[in-house]
Amino acid sequence: MRAAVITGYGGLDVLDVVEVDDPVARPGEVVVDVRAASVNGADPKVRTGASKYDSIAFPHILGRDFSGVVREAEASSGWSAGDEVFGVSERGADGGQAERIAVAAAIVARKPPSLDHAEAAALALTGITAIYALEDVAQLRAGQRILVQGGAGGVGSFAVQLARHLGAVVTTTASAANRDYVVSLGADEVIDYRETDFTSLGERFDIVFDTVGGEVQRRSAAVVKPGGLLVFCAPGPEGANPSRHDISVRRPAVDRDRGHLERITELVEGGAVRPPAITRLPLEALVEAHRLSEGRHVRGKLVLEPRHPAA
Ligand SMILES: NC(=O)c1ccc[n+]([C@@H]2O[C@H](COP(=O)([O-])OP(=O)(O)OC[C@H]3O[C@@H](n4cnc5c(N)ncnc54)[C@H](OP(=O)(O)O)[C@@H]3O)[C@@H](O)[C@H]2O)c1
Repeated sequence: MRAAVITGYGGLDVLDVVEVDDPVARPGEVVVDVRAASVNGADPKVRTGASKYDSIAFPHILGRDFSGVVREAEASSGWSAGDEVFGVSERGADGGQAERIAVAAAIVARKPPSLDHAEAAALALTGITAIYALEDVAQLRAGQRILVQGGAGGVGSFAVQLARHLGAVVTTTASAANRDYVVSLGADEVIDYRETDFTSLGERFDIVFDTVGGEVQRRSAAVVKPGGLLVFCAPGPEGANPSRHDISVRRPAVDRDRGHLERITELVEGGAVRPPAITRLPLEALVEAHRLSEGRHVRGKLVLEPRHPAA
C-alpha cells in the first residue's frame, strides 16, 4: 500500500510517500481502508524528533486521526467489513496517512452518519482534545467566561463551538482574516491578536483554553480570574512553571477511547458542532502539508485523502 512516512528524524527531506507492506491486524485490532487522514501539529513534531516514542521504527507512517471503512475484523471485535468508522491512533504507533491502518477495535467508533470521511477525520483528534479540555478537565458551565486562544485552528474551531453549546460566553483570538469564520462558529467576541494585546483584557476569564502555545500560553495566565483555570494542549512553559499561584494550570491527557469519539458524534448529529474549514490534499502533497502545518496559520484542518482505485 501507499503510505506517507518519515525515513528518519529531520527536515522536509525525510518525508516520502512509498510502498510499504499492508498492515496486519494483531489480536483485538481491525484493519481499516483509510479514506481520509488529518494532518496535526503532532506530525511535524514527530518528523523532527521533537516528539519521540520508543516504539517508532523507520519508515514510520505518520498521522493520528483517520476515517474509513473496516476491511478486516474478527467477529468478537463488534465490527464487520464495510462498517464506516473513525478514530485516533495511539501516539508512537503507525498512523492513518496511508491506504490502510491496523488499529485497536476498541478505539474506533462509527463515523458520524452526516459527515463525509474528510469531515470525520478533521473532527476526531481536535474533537477529543477539546472535549477532554473543556468538559473533562475544565467542566465548563453555562454563564462562565472562556477565552479560546487560536479559535481558527483545528482544536480551536471545535472548542469555540463546544464552549458556545455549553452556554459559556466565548471570546477567541484570531487574525482579522479569520474574524468572520470564528464568529460563524459561535464566538461572542473576537480579539485580533495582531492589533490588540489580549493581556489588556485583564483577569476576566474563568477559563482560558490555549491551543497556540509558547509565549501566548505564558501570557495567558494574566487574563485568568483568581481561582480560574488555564488549560492547554500546545507546548509552552506554563505547565512546568506556573507564573501565578492563584490559578490552576492543567494539560489534559488526551487518551484514546470510543466514548470521546461517540461524544463528537452526539455533538455533530445534535447540531452543536459542524466540521471546521477543511483543505483537502492528496497523500502526495505531504511536504506541502507539513509546510502549511508548521506555518501555524491553517484555517481549520488539513486532510490528506489517499486514493482508492476500488472505492
Ligand atoms: N495534546 C494533544 O493531544 C493535542 C491534540 C491536538 C493538538 N495539539 C496541539 O495543539 C496545538 C493546536 O493545534 P491545531 O491543529 O488546533 O492548530 P494549529 O495549526 O496549531 O493552529 C492554527 C491556527 O492558529 C492560529 N494562530 C496562530 N498564531 C496565533 C496567535 N498568536 N494567536 C491566536 N491564534 C493564532 C491561526 O489563526 P490566524 O491565521 O488567524 O492567526 C490558525 O488558524 C498544536 O500545537 C498541536 O500539536 C495537542
